[in-house]
Amino acid sequence: MSVRHILKMGEPLLFNIAQSVPSEEIHSPTVQSLIQDMLDTMHAANGAGLAAPQIGVSQQIVVFGFEKNQRYPEELPVPQTILINPIITPLGDLQESGWEGCLSVPGLRGQVPRYLKIRYQGLNQYGDIIDRVVEGFHARVVQHECDHLIGILYPMRVKDFTQFGFTEVLFPDLHINDQQD
Ligand code: NI
Repeated sequence: MSVRHILKMGEPLLFNIAQSVPSEEIHSPTVQSLIQDMLDTMHAANGAGLAAPQIGVSQQIVVFGFEKNQRYPEELPVPQTILINPIITPLGDLQESGWEGCLSVPGLRGQVPRYLKIRYQGLNQYGDIIDRVVEGFHARVVQHECDHLIGILYPMRVKDFTQFGFTEVLFPDLHINDQQD
């Protein structure tokens, strides 16, 4: 319904712990229009995902998913998902480093270690249970988005700062609107 302004790193709200959404409120017009705004904003920015705090709402809602994403052209599709009050359980200790960007950290990319395989649970936009076991980039996106709900932006997880820099330098062939990276 509307594309919202995306807060950038440095905004105090992005470092807050988000509130859970009471399940009886999921069907409310407020939550439903928030979800629609999040989808519209994510699509307008070609994002792989977006968390409610990024548009200034400190609630436990994330959206993610794409068929093909120009920001991550090498990655397999991730089903479009609306995830409320998520819980992530790592499956195994295995972590893998991979490139991440964030709409709240435009123009930059960094290598971030994430659990390779996770289970995630939560509710969808209808209040139905989501319970999935995923790995690879799907698992990475979920961990990145859910970090936004606990006040963590991906640069806070970068271990090797030689693997952190400007997208246009690291990926010169990636032609994206980098002000919206
Ligand atoms: Ni992000």
